[in-house]
Amino acid sequence: MKNTIKSNINKTSLIEELLSDEENGVLKGCSYFKKLPPVSFGDFRPIKKSYLNPNKFNGWILEDIGNYKKRYNIYYGGGGSGKSYGAAQKIVLKAALNKRKVLVVRKIRATVKHSIYAVIKGILDNGNLKHTENKSDMTLTLFNGSVFLFKGLDDSEKIKSIADITDIVIEEASEITEDDFTQLDIRLRPLKAKYPQIYMMFNPVSKINWVYKRWFLMKNENAAILHTTYTDNRFLTEEYRKTLEKLKETNPAYYKIYCLGEFATLDKLVFPIIEKRLISSEEVAHLKFFAGMDFGYINDDTAIISGRIDKKNKVIYITGEYFRKAMTNDVIAQTIKALGLQKEVITADSAEQKSIAELRKLGISRIRPAQKGKDSVKHGLQQLSQYKIVVDERCVKIIEEFENYTWKKDKKTGEYINEPIDTYNHGIDALRYGLEKDMNSTVIKFFK
Ligand SMILES: Nc1ncnc2c1ncn2[C@@H]1O[C@H](COP(=O)(O)OP(=O)(O)OP(=O)(O)O)[C@@H](O)[C@H]1O
Ligand SMILES: [Mg+2]
Repeated sequence: MKNTIKSNINKTSLIEELLSDEENGVLKGCSYFKKLPPVSFGDFRPIKKSYLNPNKFNGWILEDIGNYKKRYNIYYGGGGSGKSYGAAQKIVLKAALNKRKVLVVRKIRATVKHSIYAVIKGILDNGNLKHTENKSDMTLTLFNGSVFLFKGLDDSEKIKSIADITDIVIEEASEITEDDFTQLDIRLRPLKAKYPQIYMMFNPVSKINWVYKRWFLMKNENAAILHTTYTDNRFLTEEYRKTLEKLKETNPAYYKIYCLGEFATLDKLVFPIIEKRLISSEEVAHLKFFAGMDFGYINDDTAIISGRIDKKNKVIYITGEYFRKAMTNDVIAQTIKALGLQKEVITADSAEQKSIAELRKLGISRIRPAQKGKDSVKHGLQQLSQYKIVVDERCVKIIEEFENYTWKKDKKTGEYINEPIDTYNHGIDALRYGLEKDMNSTVIKFFK
């Protein structure tokens, strides 16, 4: 008798009774759903493909969207494949159907707002999911009380004080260190909330990077790994598609990573050993300061690198980086002022004498052109390689360069030649220029 009564209860109406009219109204008005899923697994409300409007999703994320079983969800592959958008849709729907407290991080706080914050905000707007936004605090609160907290890992003390996190999203996970990851993993303790998960999105930037060792060399039963490329994203613009395909002719290393979405074969690195860690200003304050700049164009970054050199112990400390595309000279001048480098000697690429002259007029009076003699790249690299290089772990762009900057191979013999590839070098060029005057010019036999 009891059983009959139980089986007659419609599960959907049960959950609808648990939710307020307002919450039900929001879910019913959400364009991601065809119909609302019932509650099951106790009080957790999972989602299935069949409840969703397929026009709003890429196929691969629809297949994965109800997978809450694995703790680690790895979304990796080429550029523009919809990794960030798809993973964010999955967590947004999990949080819309269940009360969650989601920590969303990227290495550098300043990069969060225009990347993953904008993506998640866009998904809420696009799906018509009611929420409130606190822009200065970078918090999004959903109609049902679920919260998304956005942080930079350069803010890590603040993260330590957040309690009861149910899920973590790591945007551009290759930017963080393995130690950062371990700290985050510890933050996500098993607690009352069901199915705690960590979502990680990244491009296969380098086999040197911790993500390769951790998720591809080691097997982890608790990890779901999803590979996608631009061909898996039907929302991508034609223009973006063409840009990616063109890399085949212009930049084979980028083609492999950003178009095919594969870890590039590891060629011989120019700087095989660099130390990555936090560098405090007190630690290096007594050492000589340097700054260098490489000019970019529309598609290339302008790079400014600064740091300190310890000539006696042969150590270079890289403590500051700035990378941006399409910078005009007046924007460069403003940026140099904002970085507090206006009064410093900055050595810049001498191929841009006109820009250097213009920057002087704009108040950057101590900027000077690099000397650049014959074979200056080789000599500069040779001198740099006599130093131990310590990079502050927040300088994620130059670290990516160090992890990809390799020697060229002779196409016929397959042997490495005494010349580096002409990519992943904007920051490293800026470093060479910045240190040009400080390096002694003794030439030793160049080793590859
Ligand atoms: N379901 C969707 N609905 C609408 N637009 C989408 C959807 N999925 C992806 N897009 C769009 O496709 C583009 C690329 O997506 P996204 O930024 O998520 O790619 P990605 O794989 O994270 O790229 P990257 O490797 O550069 O980080 C974005 O403009 C995004 O808004
Ligand atoms: Mg992305």
